This record gives sequence, structure tokens and C-alpha cells, in this order.
Amino acid sequence: MRMLSSDIDGTLTGDRRATQRFRTFWEALNPLTRPLLVYNSGRLIDDIEALIEVTDLPVPDYMIGGVGTMIGGLAEEKRRAYGEVLGKPFDRDALMRVMQRIDGIRLQADEYQHQHKSSWHLHGAGDETIADIETRLAEAGLDAKLVYSSGRDLDVLPRAADKGAALVWLCRDLGIDPGEVVVAGDTGNDRDMFLLPDVRGIAVANALPELQRIVAGEPRHFQATRPHADGVVEGLRHWGLAA
Ligand code: GLC
Repeated sequence: MRMLSSDIDGTLTGDRRATQRFRTFWEALNPLTRPLLVYNSGRLIDDIEALIEVTDLPVPDYMIGGVGTMIGGLAEEKRRAYGEVLGKPFDRDALMRVMQRIDGIRLQADEYQHQHKSSWHLHGAGDETIADIETRLAEAGLDAKLVYSSGRDLDVLPRAADKGAALVWLCRDLGIDPGEVVVAGDTGNDRDMFLLPDVRGIAVANALPELQRIVAGEPRHFQATRPHADGVVEGLRHWGLAA
């Protein structure tokens, strides 16, 4: 294992003591040989950094933020290269026109938005509703991908971005094979990491059915019996990592 790509909220956080136990476990690993630690979150990079300050989360080697739309820890030139992969920023007006017509939808606060991520709240949407929104966006000329999670969060992202695609880009850049990566998560926006060929996964015990559906019956994914960060440690041990 050369890399752990883990979601934060509900996975590494959610139980303060468990986060501390994760940190203790992580810091007991030999820093010269332990895997790279990558946080892969729906939060924007500055939001992840602020969270690290006020929690016991260990400092990561890299951060993937905004559901795969930003990568932190890279040199400026590489950051720009990743921005180019994402393409032009959304045509905000066209996007707003489509989204504001969706019943029951609400724009998330400004601090959760950026040029390649438009995030909304829409409670209890089914697959059909999501597919319908995607069609409407396409009809308006917007080449967007939707990621729906927690039965509430709807992220509109560039076609080339999600947590999995960003992880693949980072691994290529670092010369790490997906077979050397373990991913961890709890909700639907983590699915694209688990769906990558060859990666191994850890679904924490509190994972929602939207993620569990993908993990069930897949020997390359481990269903932890413990919730939150304790489940991540359990999974890392399962995959052979020991302090
Ligand atoms: C985080 C982000 C939010 C996003 C959600 C799901 O909570 O702050 O904007 O919708 O993750 O990806």
C-alpha cells in the first residue's frame, strides 16, 4: 500500500476519540515507509485546512477538495495543469437558469462554491430525478456531471471531475499504481473512488446504503464493523498495514 485516499466527514471525523486513535495509529507508522496520506473530501481545500487546524486529523501529504475539483499540496505549475483538465469554468447564468427550475432545490452557501463546483441541497432525490437534471443541463449546453450524496447534497461538477478521477490524476503524477491505493469513505460522493479498477476500499460501519451497495459482495472492498475513524484503522489493518 503506497497511498491512503480517505474521505473526511463521517469517515475520519464524527467521533473525536476515534479520530485521535487514527492519528496515533498513523503517527506510529514509520514516516519513511508509510503510505502517502491523501484527504479526498467534498470540502474546498481552505475548508479542509481549517478543519485540520481544529481537529486531531494528522497533516496529509496531499488534499483533493471540492469533490475532485481541486488538488492541494501540488506545485503551482501542476495545479494549473490539473485546472486545465477540468476545462472552462461553468457558464454560471446558464447553470442557474436550469437548476433554479428544479422543485425543492436550494443553493448551498457561497463558501461551498467555486468555478468548477456548484453545490445544492435537494432532499431525497431518486436516480430518475438526478438523470432528469443531467439531461436538462446537457440540453442547455452544459457538459456537467452530477454527484448526489447523503440523500441531500447535489454537486454539479465538470465532466472530467469526481473524487475518483482526481485520485487517478494524482496517482499518475506520483507514479503510483491504483493497485497500491486504499480508499476509505461513507457516502455517495465516495463511490467514484471505490469504482476505480484495482483500488481496495474500506467502507466504515456507518456508511450509507448508497455506498454500501457498491461495496457489498466485492472482495476488494472491506466492510468495517466499526464506525468512523476506528473503521478506517480496522480496514488498514485488514489490508496489512501495521504500526
Ligand atoms: C461537502 C461540501 C458540500 C458537498 C458535499 C457532498 O459537505 O462542503 O458542498 O455538497 O460535501 O459532496
